[in-house]
Amino acid sequence: MNLFESFRDGLSVVPLAGRLARLGDSPTPEALVGIAMSYKVIRPLQVRTEMLELARIVADARPRALLEIGTFRGGTLFVWSRLAAPDAVIISLDLPVSLRGKLVRVAQGPLFRQFTYGHQSMHLLREDSHNPASVAHVGTIRGDRPLDFLFIDGDHAYEGVKADFELHSPAVRPGGIVAFHDIAMKPPCGVPQLWTEIKSRYRHTEIVHETGPKSMGVGVLWV
Ligand SMILES: C[S@@+](CC[C@H](N)C(=O)[O-])C[C@H]1O[C@@H](n2cnc3c(N)ncnc32)[C@H](O)[C@@H]1O
Repeated sequence: MNLFESFRDGLSVVPLAGRLARLGDSPTPEALVGIAMSYKVIRPLQVRTEMLELARIVADARPRALLEIGTFRGGTLFVWSRLAAPDAVIISLDLPVSLRGKLVRVAQGPLFRQFTYGHQSMHLLREDSHNPASVAHVGTIRGDRPLDFLFIDGDHAYEGVKADFELHSPAVRPGGIVAFHDIAMKPPCGVPQLWTEIKSRYRHTEIVHETGPKSMGVGVLWV
């Protein structure tokens, strides 16, 4: 993306901010996914119908504490936030690799804070999810609230996604949800391998609506 395109896409923050201000307290998953997909500045890297199916699961769970690993433009964080309880603790762990990415993350802060409603709190940790210090940081923020929902969409290498699961899933309450994005993606993505190894240990469901090169897929575990 060149500088002009970045600037043009960034301008959609203005109508989006207005849209967020008018959003009521109980929007449907359909409405939220529709908004996320309509604004380039936050558009999620998801298959729309797969995201919608996961959003319905999240809406039923109405999390009071959630952690997203891998936020990028923020579209998934937006949808989870508005489906969470009005007093939810929302934590995003995201580590941009480039200098440009770091600058963009700083600029995103004010917009991401507008994703919240009611008495929710939003915590944007720009840290490596594999670093034990990030586990401690998440623990300090959530205090004695276990996670109700953990969304893993950060490092997609096998060792990376495995580390995210092993480090962060112990904070999820019994019966809580861990969702993995890209369980159907082609190599070198390592998520399918981890998913195949662990899914049978839990009640789980697979949301895969696209096959072929565009395949992504979401795997959901109740731990
Ligand atoms: C695929 S994008 C997330 C997409 C987002 N969930 C969505 O659908 O809009 C992956 C993000 O994870 C971040 N990431 C990769 N490895 C990470 C790590 N070890 N710790 C934290 N964030 C990481 C990347 O910088 C990137 O922003």
